[in-house]
Amino acid sequence: MTNDINWLDICDVSDLVEDSGVCALIDEKQVALFYIPAETKVYALSQYDPFGQANILSRGLIGSKEGRLYVASPLYKQRFYLETGECLEDEKVSLPTWKAQLVDNRVMIQAL
Ligand code: FES
Repeated sequence: MTNDINWLDICDVSDLVEDSGVCALIDEKQVALFYIPAETKVYALSQYDPFGQANILSRGLIGSKEGRLYVASPLYKQRFYLETGECLEDEKVSLPTWKAQLVDNRVMIQAL
């Protein structure tokens, strides 16, 4: 998975919160990082909620629909799949996402 992609070392996994979100500032972009220990996986998507027009998605609650994890915005409750950024309420809306991986407890994000 590491081929031909420039990975940035963002933080230690202990800086994240299990089954919840944390915001990271990467290249002046706010990125919401969600750590899911059951999957040993980190998801990275835009912190910006296009409906609420605010940087808040890392504070949203995680849920799942048909086995796919989403975050629900704390503002107007629109849900976005963690994997793809697609909005469940409006198929025309999709958040930017970034590839993320854990390597020796470091959180790596695909260069933006
Ligand atoms: S997300 Fe900012 S107060 Fe709830």
